[in-house]
Amino acid sequence: MKAIIVPEQGLIHSCDRAEIRPPPAYRGRIERLLISSTHIRARVARIAREIAVDAARVNADQLHLVVVLKGATVFGADLAREISRARGPELRFNFIKASSYGNGTVTRGEVKIEGSLQYARGRHLLVVEDIIDTGLTMARLKRYLLRERKAASVKICALLNKPDRRLPRLRKELAIDYAGFDIPDLFVAGYGLDCAEQMRELPCVVVVNDRAF
Ligand code: PRP
Repeated sequence: MKAIIVPEQGLIHSCDRAEIRPPPAYRGRIERLLISSTHIRARVARIAREIAVDAARVNADQLHLVVVLKGATVFGADLAREISRARGPELRFNFIKASSYGNGTVTRGEVKIEGSLQYARGRHLLVVEDIIDTGLTMARLKRYLLRERKAASVKICALLNKPDRRLPRLRKELAIDYAGFDIPDLFVAGYGLDCAEQMRELPCVVVVNDRAF
C-alpha cells in the first residue's frame, strides 16, 4: 500500500481551517499545519480497510498489534477502532518501547527494546509506528521480533514516513506494508508525535518552529 505524498505546503482540508490557529499554549512554537485531521481520519480508515481485506484473504481471524510507545499510541487507538468498523479480525493490543542510544541528535545505531514480549512467539504481528525516519528503530524491531522472539510474521504499518532521511542501507530492506503519508524532512509534531514531550494531543500534524525551542 503506497503512501500519499505530502507536498511542502501540506494537506489541509477546507473544513479544518480552525486547526491553522494553534492553541494558546503552543502559540509561536507551531510554524504551520502540515496534515489536517480530516486527511488523517480518511487515511487511517483507508489503511484499516486494507488491513481487514488482507486478513480476510488469508483467513486470519486474530491480529496482534504491536504499538510502539509513546508516539504511536494515538494512531494505534484510532487504527484499532477503524479495523473494527471495517469488520477486520479480532485484535490484541501489545506495546513495546524502543529507544535509540546516542548523544543528542546523533544516533549510534543501537536500539534498546523494552516490554513484555511473551505474545510474539508464533504470532502474526502488525507493528504500528507513528513515524519512520532513518529506519533504524523499525529495522531493529522487525529483526528482533522475527529472529529473537520467533514471531511467525511481522508487518509494518506507519502513519508517517520521511523517505529523504532513510539510511541508504535500509532503503530497500525496510518495506512498509501499510503506509500513510510520505512527508518532507521537517520537524513535525501532533497526533501522537511530540516536541520535547509536548503537542502529542493535537488532532493534526504540524510543523514545529524549531527556533522557538
Ligand atoms: C520516534 C518514532 C520512532 C523513531 C523513528 O520515537 O516514534 O520510534 O523515533 O526514528 P528512526 O526511524 O530514525 O529510528 P521517539 O524516539 O521520538 O520516541 P517516542 O515515540 O516516545 O516519542
